[in-house]
Amino acid sequence: MAPRFYGRTALPEYGPFAPTENELNLFGDIRGKKVLDIGCGSGHSLKYMEECQASELWGVDLSRTQIEAATGLLKDTMAKLFESPMEGNPGIPETYFDIVYSIYALGWTTDLESTLKNIHTYLKAGGTFIFSWEHPLFSRVRSDDQGLKFDKSYHEEGPYDHQAWDHPAIMQQYKMSTYINSLVKHGLQIVQMIEDVRISEELKARDENRWYNWDKVQKVPTTIIFKCKKV
Ligand SMILES: C[S@@+](CC[C@H](N)C(=O)[O-])C[C@H]1O[C@@H](n2cnc3c(N)ncnc32)[C@H](O)[C@@H]1O
Repeated sequence: MAPRFYGRTALPEYGPFAPTENELNLFGDIRGKKVLDIGCGSGHSLKYMEECQASELWGVDLSRTQIEAATGLLKDTMAKLFESPMEGNPGIPETYFDIVYSIYALGWTTDLESTLKNIHTYLKAGGTFIFSWEHPLFSRVRSDDQGLKFDKSYHEEGPYDHQAWDHPAIMQQYKMSTYINSLVKHGLQIVQMIEDVRISEELKARDENRWYNWDKVQKVPTTIIFKCKKV
């Protein structure tokens, strides 16, 4: 699926119909900061970090196709990229990064605990962790001719076949409290949570589809964004 998503949902965007970094300014001044991208995909968020003058660019992604795309996009930089699952550490330095972030990738993890534990070890004390992912309500609500339906139990967690794809795509489903409690457990203090949507005719024309149905988007948050600090 990599070519279909090349350069989509990358910083300064956090996700479909979500407010952007231009508005939120969660990262603050990136100049001179060492940054690590978890699930870096085609590398477009790392490219954004380069444009914001980060001093070091690091990224990890499970997919060879994505790492090849990111290698091409970032060829004029010194970016260090790892083809690896985020659940393990392929050689990323510990207590090293000012910023670790993940844009629409963390919810793929098959082991949230190991992933957050790793992220905590990569960060310097006081470092920032920011991630965006599909809002836990959005994935449980279905839209049809009769309106919106809560067709899945909110209590249900674990792997499920995400309906937005044309073929099986197994993702993990967590409750909001699971994210919050896991972050807290792994020493990542929550500084801010954002679940707003931004709706405009321009975004509607660009992003509306079967999954990001207009009626649903106007009533249910699409994206959750967390900003945390390593304590
Ligand atoms: C929507 S894309 C990310 C886009 C990217 N963050 C950006 O800013 O352009 C999700 C990425 O997560 C990666 N991914 C999925 N499961 C993973 C895992 N367990 N470990 C590492 N990467 C994973 C996929 O290969 C894919 O590139």
